[in-house]
Amino acid sequence: MSELPRADIAVIGGSGFYSFLDDATEHDVTTPYGDPSAPVAVGEVAGRSVAFLPRHGRHHDHPPHAINYRANAWALRALGVRQVLAPCAVGGLRETVAPGDLVVPDQLVDRTHRRVGSFVESGAVHMPFADPYCPGMSAALTGADPDVRAGGTMVIIEGPRFSTRAESRHYAEQRWDLVNMTGAPEAALAREMGQCYAALALVTDMDAGADAGDGVGQDEVFARFRQNLERLTGLLSRAIAALPDPTGCTCSTWADGLEVTYDVPARG
Ligand code: ADE
Repeated sequence: MSELPRADIAVIGGSGFYSFLDDATEHDVTTPYGDPSAPVAVGEVAGRSVAFLPRHGRHHDHPPHAINYRANAWALRALGVRQVLAPCAVGGLRETVAPGDLVVPDQLVDRTHRRVGSFVESGAVHMPFADPYCPGMSAALTGADPDVRAGGTMVIIEGPRFSTRAESRHYAEQRWDLVNMTGAPEAALAREMGQCYAALALVTDMDAGADAGDGVGQDEVFARFRQNLERLTGLLSRAIAALPDPTGCTCSTWADGLEVTYDVPARG
């Protein structure tokens, strides 16, 4: 573990982001929870040391419900990461969004049901999570591109299948804006690791909301994501350059004075 480089910031995203880092080196990080999705690449963006972890693995080996979210969060913390940026593909649920839109959500609804969602296995550790995304990081994302929409609620489903029309209609009736398969437990685990976390959602499709047509398919999602990769990496670079100092942010100070009973690796 001692040979690991330090990184202050991490991006967890699709494998298309590999080329995002300058002068990257790759590192196998072992964790008490097993292997992360892939070796972690560490390089530079905007003069900052940035780690990149492909959420689904190098060759999209891990479907959303089978990602080792705990190993990913633990590995990033072991590198010293304090701020996590999480670009992701989402379906749009309401006419207020359209494919190609970029949204920085401010709320989530966790509708997953068979993932390990916490490091806590004993003791009284009840983490505040009313605001699941770091406001300072979210502001850096929205400030990086005038077309990015600020705010919205993302529901996270178990997957790997897409929603039925009835499920999609139900989510829209709740006035939830976006649907995705990976945003939970990723955001909560980052906070348990004392990291600030913000999501950048690219709307790739309109889910099953339209009564006509076949509903969303994976080709549509992957193609839309590929088309927008350059836009996303440009935006993330500008956001990284503008990230606030995380010192004192409640994303990490919430545990001050608590007896945290789970294993948190020393930073970097
Ligand atoms: N990711 C991208 N589009 C999605 C959708 N419609 N449902 C769930 N996850 C998605």
